[in-house]
Amino acid sequence: MKTAFITGVTGQDGSYLAELLLGKGYDVHGLVRRSSTLNRSRIDHLHQHERLHLHYGDLTDGVSLVNLVRSIEPDEVYNLGAMSHVKVSFEMPDYTASTNAIGTLRLLEAVRAAGLDCRFYQASTSEMFGSTPPPQDETSMFHPRSPYGSSKLQAHWVTVNYREAYDLFAVSGILFNHESPRRGENFVTRKITKAAAAIAAGVQEHVTLGNLDAVRDWGYAPEYVEGMWRMLQQDEPDDFVMATGEGHTVREFCDAAFTHAGLNWEEHVRYDESFTRPSEVNALIGDASKAHRELGWKAHTTALDLARLMVDADVEEINRFLAR
Ligand code: NAP
Ligand code: GDD
Repeated sequence: MKTAFITGVTGQDGSYLAELLLGKGYDVHGLVRRSSTLNRSRIDHLHQHERLHLHYGDLTDGVSLVNLVRSIEPDEVYNLGAMSHVKVSFEMPDYTASTNAIGTLRLLEAVRAAGLDCRFYQASTSEMFGSTPPPQDETSMFHPRSPYGSSKLQAHWVTVNYREAYDLFAVSGILFNHESPRRGENFVTRKITKAAAAIAAGVQEHVTLGNLDAVRDWGYAPEYVEGMWRMLQQDEPDDFVMATGEGHTVREFCDAAFTHAGLNWEEHVRYDESFTRPSEVNALIGDASKAHRELGWKAHTTALDLARLMVDADVEEINRFLAR
């Protein structure tokens, strides 16, 4: 049976990927960061699984990566760990680059040094396209607009280079935004659905947002981790875009979420410039035809379905909380 090593296992995607691989019979090893309080709520339900093993380490600590890769001897490495918040990356550019760009280099070097026959997945992003207008696909020009986007672009090219230079089976998934009830609370979709649930329950009055005109291609995270796995099962390594192909504004997402909660968004959404970015990515809409053609992968859940399923999950969560 195969062994996988996942960085970012405590994150949204890492938690769904761990579930997927455990379900396929893999031994799953996850990298966790030391923190003063445990930060594992997304994988709590898996913690007694006999094939899930957690290890302390950090993408900024090359020695921990070398030691872990050597002792785990993974067949597949999924590098999902990252400082993943675009706005925060403007406030922490040095740490963002160290984790996302150099962290990827450290992990690739750990795999190379171990001399393993191991496949490597890099979590690349549509943010690398930045100001290039949609639709974006694998051939579109990269023009990142944030320290996050540029750190991910370096990681992307390092991954390509290790494939070309060392013949490593290393691939990048260029994933457009994907969300779920496990999405971090300071990303716009979850911020909106959590607020809609709280306002409907009468415990909050409004939510403050930034740019409502930005267009994103929002898909459903569990479908995207399936695509990551498929990329590592190919005969030859290659990079793929994963997206729904549908673009919606933040305003449209608000409307869908608040309407589903029985509210009028315009009565509850306020604007604050502090939630805007020094340079914005105006529109991301992906063309995932190559993934459909070569991986048989397709997104099924659209942004408006997603708004509704995330509101339902947040309503359930707040009702559980209020009933305590
Ligand atoms: P997420 O929920 O923010 O999770 C990020 C994960 O990275 C967490 O497990 C976090 O650990 C870990 N991490 C952060 N800094 C680290 C460090 N220095 N060393 C080791 N681990 C570290 O992100 P996500 O939405 O699941 O995204 C997964 C990956 O896909 C990320 O690389 C992201 O940039 C990329 N991506 C995401 C999307 C999207 O729309 N979700 C789209 C394209 C690409 P803690 O739990 O301890 O913080
Ligand atoms: N976070 C946030 N908070 N974003 C807001 C807000 C707000 O209050 N108001 C408006 N927005 C706008 C942002 O300006 C951006 O245009 C859009 O909503 C989406 O923001 P996020 O949800 O923070 O996601 P992102 O698109 O910047 O980045 C996510 O997707 C990338 C893939 O395209 C992250 O998951 C990245 O890690 C990922 O690579």
